[in-house]
Amino acid sequence: MLRTYHMDRIDNVQKEASLATPDPSSDSQTSRLVGQSTPYMVPTYVRPPPMFQKGEGCFLWDVENRQYLDFTSGIAVNALGHCDPEMSKLLAQQAQTLVHTSNLYHNPWTGALSKLLVEKTVESGAMTDAARAFICNSGSEANEAAIKFARKCGRTADESGNKHEIVSFHNSFHGRTMGSLSATPNPKYQKPFGPMVPGFRYGNYNDIDAVNDLVTDKTCGVIIEPIQGEGGVNVATDDFLLALRRRCTEVGAVLIYDEIQCGLGRTGTMWAHGALPKEAHPDVLTTAKALGNGFPIGATIVTENVSSKIVTGDHGTTFGGNPLGSRLAHYIVGRLSGAEIQDGVIQKEKVFRKRFEQLKQKYPDVITEVRGRGLLLGVQLSQDPTPVITAARERGLLIITCGTNTLRFVPPLIISEPEIEQGMDILEDAMKAVFRTDEHIPGTDGQQEMRAS
Ligand SMILES: Cc1ncc(COP(=O)(O)O)c(C=O)c1O
Repeated sequence: MLRTYHMDRIDNVQKEASLATPDPSSDSQTSRLVGQSTPYMVPTYVRPPPMFQKGEGCFLWDVENRQYLDFTSGIAVNALGHCDPEMSKLLAQQAQTLVHTSNLYHNPWTGALSKLLVEKTVESGAMTDAARAFICNSGSEANEAAIKFARKCGRTADESGNKHEIVSFHNSFHGRTMGSLSATPNPKYQKPFGPMVPGFRYGNYNDIDAVNDLVTDKTCGVIIEPIQGEGGVNVATDDFLLALRRRCTEVGAVLIYDEIQCGLGRTGTMWAHGALPKEAHPDVLTTAKALGNGFPIGATIVTENVSSKIVTGDHGTTFGGNPLGSRLAHYIVGRLSGAEIQDGVIQKEKVFRKRFEQLKQKYPDVITEVRGRGLLLGVQLSQDPTPVITAARERGLLIITCGTNTLRFVPPLIISEPEIEQGMDILEDAMKAVFRTDEHIPGTDGQQEMRAS
């Protein structure tokens, strides 16, 4: 017989006396600070009550000086943890040396970062044709560059402008700027801002049979996350990526891998597509998030063939590749491309999966599937995860959601095995507090950090 669960009212869960990090009360210092600033901020985000003021390694501290274990890494950003000591030292040094000159002039670090990204990519066995990089400020901008480069390649192949279509996939997330948003076919994000940029087509992820009709002579570019992050931690099959590559080559379209969330060591290889044969490698690879470990920076890595279509004035940025960001990313790429980090990720995935398996045995009707690779893992729940997230937070653990009712695990890659066990103990306590066994709770959408209200 199916067991169903009853969720205690959140108020009751919160009222437990033993909570390590109860959400701040309405007369707390936190609530006063939030109350003073909220009226001045465009209401694009809904945030949980704590306010964080300090971070170190895998921990954050709020303004009430309560400590939280962070399984979110600022949405897969702080791969080296919070305030990595070497990064903080370099940040201070470079800030006292040179911060910005604009791209009108050379500086020592934009080129050094580009060279390192290309060399480490080729060395890793992923995108073996990687040749050059364009440095920008964010994931959305890295994808904007990729989309523009694909359009330029299409225009170069066919001057009529007919070869302009960009293909992307349902449940993808490529960003919020108009180009990257046009590649993100989620009605919740697109509808209020239509019309989208013309020329975008959408297909179903992993639908190999549809590839030939979807990608045609009119296609100039195909953009895909090898593992969808925001969409629910969905992994593309090798065969699907191989089929896309084959079809892109047939019609002369540029294949773009968006590894903004899944790249830079998160899955145990430098890039998530690293284990794929050359026959599935992209023409363009985008990265951001972990590239700056919290400092805003992104990059679009391209083959020589793509680069040869781009001329002076085609694209640019004021801040992108400034000496400060590039110096930091240069250090970060050096760390994240190393075997020590990547081997650790594989080992740590096993620790998580073992604990997920135990939880699934306890809650077989709540936990329906575990997906992902390395330290980009999704635990599919059959119901709304919000009460679990709240109960975990009030016990000192931060987790986020994605897709529909999916708990997403994206901790710093430097997390230790005892810290994983500690976090999973807290999650287990939280689930115990939330679920009882007599009533089913209907699900709602996830993607908590993106909710408009
Ligand atoms: C796969 C992917 N692409 C692009 C983006 C957009 O990056 P940003 O928020 O830095 O613009 C994100 C952000 O979540 C992402 O996960």
